[in-house]
Amino acid sequence: MIKQVLVLNGPNLGRLGIREPEIYGSATFEDLADLCRATGRKLGLSVEVRQTDDEGEMIGWVHEAADARLPVVLNPAAFTHYSYALRDALAMRTAPLVEVHISNPAAREEFRHTSVVAAVADGTVAGFGLVSYQLALQAIAELAAEDATGEPGPGLEEPAEPADPDKPTRERPIGR
Ligand code: DQA
Repeated sequence: MIKQVLVLNGPNLGRLGIREPEIYGSATFEDLADLCRATGRKLGLSVEVRQTDDEGEMIGWVHEAADARLPVVLNPAAFTHYSYALRDALAMRTAPLVEVHISNPAAREEFRHTSVVAAVADGTVAGFGLVSYQLALQAIAELAAEDATGEPGPGLEEPAEPADPDKPTRERPIGR
C-alpha cells in the first residue's frame, strides 16, 4: 500500500519566490509543492503539500495527521520559535515527524536559534534550500519502512560486498 505523507508549511512560506529571495531562493511555493510530490513518487510516497498562515489551522492539520496516523514533514516557519500550542499538538503524533527548514536558523538571528518543536520531532533537516524537503521525505520513507518491517528502508540499504576480495571495505580496511 502506498504511504501517504503530509508536508505542512507555516506562515509566509506561500510567498516563496518573492519572499527574501537572498535567503529563501527564487523557487515559488508551487515549485516546492511539485518537487515534494515528485520526490514522493520516487520514494513510493503519496505526498500532499499544504501551507497556512494561521496557527489554529496548522494545529487542526496536526490533529488530523495524528488521528489518521500520517507521517508529517513540517516547516513550522516562525511558529518554530514560539508556538507551544503547535509543539503540544505535535507531541500527540502517532507517526514519524521530520522538522524542516529552507535556511539554517542556527546561522541566523538569535531568536531563530530556539526551536520549540525540535524535541518532539524524530529529527530536523535545515539549511539546504528545497533539498531540505527531499532529505526529510527520504527520512520519512526510511522511518515508515522501519515501522512496517523493522528493517532499514529502500534508500539506505547496506552496500553489496565488492566482487574483488582484495578491495578494502568498511569492515576490512586497507592493511588488515
Ligand atoms: C524557516 C526559518 C524560520 O526562522 C522562518 O521564520 C521561516 C522559514 C526556513 O524554512 O528557513 O519562516 O522555517
